[in-house]
Amino acid sequence: MKNINKTVLSGVQPTGGLHIGNYLGAIKNFVSMQTEYECFFCVVDLHAITVKQDPKLLKNNTYEVVATYLASGIDPVKSVIFNQSNVSSHSELAWIFNCITRMGWLNRMTQFKDKAGKDKENASSGLFIYPNLMAADILLYKATHVPVGDDQKQHLELTRDIAQKFNREYECDGFFPIPEPIIDKNISRIMSLKNGELKMSKSDPSDYSRISLIDSADQIEKKIKKAKTADTTMPDNNEDVSKLLEVNNLLNIFSGFSGIEKVELIEKYKGQNFSNFKNNLTEVIIEHIKPISKEIEKLMGDKSYLNQIISSGAEKASEKANVTIKEVYDIIGLVRNEA
Ligand code: TYM
Repeated sequence: MKNINKTVLSGVQPTGGLHIGNYLGAIKNFVSMQTEYECFFCVVDLHAITVKQDPKLLKNNTYEVVATYLASGIDPVKSVIFNQSNVSSHSELAWIFNCITRMGWLNRMTQFKDKAGKDKENASSGLFIYPNLMAADILLYKATHVPVGDDQKQHLELTRDIAQKFNREYECDGFFPIPEPIIDKNISRIMSLKNGELKMSKSDPSDYSRISLIDSADQIEKKIKKAKTADTTMPDNNEDVSKLLEVNNLLNIFSGFSGIEKVELIEKYKGQNFSNFKNNLTEVIIEHIKPISKEIEKLMGDKSYLNQIISSGAEKASEKANVTIKEVYDIIGLVRNEA
């Protein structure tokens, strides 16, 4: 039985090549939350276009995220799967939040600094105000819980600030709930297989830094074989493991997929070199990823089914979003044409 006072919203950008970081850090949690919470999962295509996208690829990547949601176990009967640009009130509420958020708040966003890099002057203004659109995604559904990876924590804090400022300034205490991030401690930041100091990312130039959800068994095996470990054997305690960033990361991935506690894994592999550990890790990843990648492939061949999901999702999402945007217009004194 779902608790309607507990609403989840989360999103993934259709920028191609979803990897095991996206899966363990976010999508796996989406699946487990859908029985208890009212859930909205969107493909955030409007976020994707804050950097230039090839239109054909963008379309394909959008279908691929929908297929990944379904293949990972999101049930379109229990959850609403939709495409952000199909529900126009996301953009409307984002504009209103552009007028609420202070420049100082946005100036502190580290992800803008990372993504804009040295050439800040040339970044799109959309990239700068991106967190306001993310806040709109969440608050439009009055979401109370937001499952995300650790890299989205700061954007969630900003969303909370926006909700509080709106409620306070317009004297509508409790109108927007203050959403809680759901961040799983060990798997919320899966790191690159080549460098334990860098996050696993779609944009890393090396394909060997990540495992994509559609990698073949051979590719997974090669990538794990090449993954950096350490010149020592597996330590016998968590404290020493934490100092070996790449080993720690592989243990987190192993634990994330298998459900076996990290301490148990350390106990099993302590004192050994990493080849046995890597073989077992490869098996565990393939066992979990294979059914997902097979299903993604199958679904990508059935665009009419995916279109059906997108269309019914937009309808269901709009129902809730339209109520909120109407209330917001009324609260801030915008007159809507109701004729
Ligand atoms: P995006 O598309 O970059 O990533 C999708 C989800 O995957 C998580 N993630 C990771 N988790 C663990 N380890 C990693 N290496 C890793 N890389 C990515 C992200 O934290 C995210 O949860 N701004 C968001 C999308 C968004 C959104 C929203 C999320 C737009 N509106 C509203 C939640 C609620 C983003 O760019 O995610």
